[in-house]
Amino acid sequence: MKNIFITGGLGYIGSHTCVVLLEAGFQVSIIDNLCNSNPGVLDRIECITGVRPVFYRGDIRDRPLLDDIFSKQSFDAVIHFAGLKAVGESVEKPVDYYDNNVNGSLSLFIAMKKVKLQTLVFSSSATVYGDPHSLPITEDFPCSATNPYGGSKLMVENILSDLAVAEPGWSIGRLRYFNPVGAHAGGLIGEDPKGVPNNLMPYIAQVASGRRNKLQVFGGDYPTPDGSGVRDYIHVMDLAEGHLAALRYCQINNGLLTVNLGTGQGISVIQMIETFERVTGQKVAFEIVGRRPGDIAQCWTDPTLAKQLLGWSAGRSIEDMCTDAWRWQDLNPSGYDEG
Ligand code: NAD
Ligand code: UFG
Repeated sequence: MKNIFITGGLGYIGSHTCVVLLEAGFQVSIIDNLCNSNPGVLDRIECITGVRPVFYRGDIRDRPLLDDIFSKQSFDAVIHFAGLKAVGESVEKPVDYYDNNVNGSLSLFIAMKKVKLQTLVFSSSATVYGDPHSLPITEDFPCSATNPYGGSKLMVENILSDLAVAEPGWSIGRLRYFNPVGAHAGGLIGEDPKGVPNNLMPYIAQVASGRRNKLQVFGGDYPTPDGSGVRDYIHVMDLAEGHLAALRYCQINNGLLTVNLGTGQGISVIQMIETFERVTGQKVAFEIVGRRPGDIAQCWTDPTLAKQLLGWSAGRSIEDMCTDAWRWQDLNPSGYDEG
């Protein structure tokens, strides 16, 4: 198992995973349509690892392109990150989300079937648990979708479980990520949202850098210790290493793997702001405002299954997440757009 095809490999989680795989001795080829990423990421990956991945600029919904790539190069496994991921946008543009995330995935699976490429790791999300009935969340909790983005993830999960039953030669990992934050410790790659960030950590980092005035804390009246929302933040490098562990698992186990990737620790928005200020020495101005529609109060995983099956657990601390997010922001104030 040496040659890995990575969809969406120039994006936030994909780029960090490419670095981890290259450093572990894998060969990596990336397809990305650049709808939410920058080609400069390739230079950064090369700078960190000394290896430039093969890159195909294209869309996973382009079947002839996938057939062409798979006819020229032979792969041992696919890691499938490509997709749209903004919850709010998915409510406004459901058809775009289902088209990209579901049709894109189907196009990929059809092309894989054609060349009998049957090892796949898929980016799913803790969003498939909806509003969990209790905590921590284990993999056997009921799934539901509260928005089209979550619906698209759940549809692809269902396609994959049906595929695993129908064709037992497949080896499929469905990885349900909790909240990825932080950046590679070298400060060369990180999260580079286009426009106003939707997610907490990039927003905090942009307030600290002076690019934005003030963070709005969405909700101060949740049934949590300080009233702000609680999440299971996981360092993106831990998450990337989780993919390596999942790949190794899928190499020797056929069938369907479904596993949560998180730390098992819930942290509130206020705690995150305080930790960021403490470890970086930067002030983060904030105000508490009303709840964001669709948000849940709290969410964290039970990390036991990942440890048992993959021998993996997240080791980096909240302090590491803040330090590394800030280093990335400070060294790249405009993200990958240098100017
Ligand atoms: P990202 O937007 O940074 O990366 C996705 C990449 O896929 C981008 O480079 C984009 O240009 C590319 N892409 C999108 N549609 C494509 C298509 N049709 N063809 C080719 N390339 C395409 O997002 P990310 O944070 O790295 O997330 C990666 C995956 O993990 C996504 O599937 C996302 O839904 C899932 N996920 C992310 C989070 C999170 O908080 N970041 C949480 C849970 C799950
Ligand atoms: N928050 C703020 N202010 C902001 C942004 C976020 O207070 O400007 C709060 C939210 O209300 C929430 C917490 O910070 O309490 C985390 O919010 P994020 O938007 O960073 O993350 P979510 O938990 O809402 O969702 C993320 C991804 C989803 C994914 C989910 C579970 O955006 O795609 O994690 O993995 F499904």
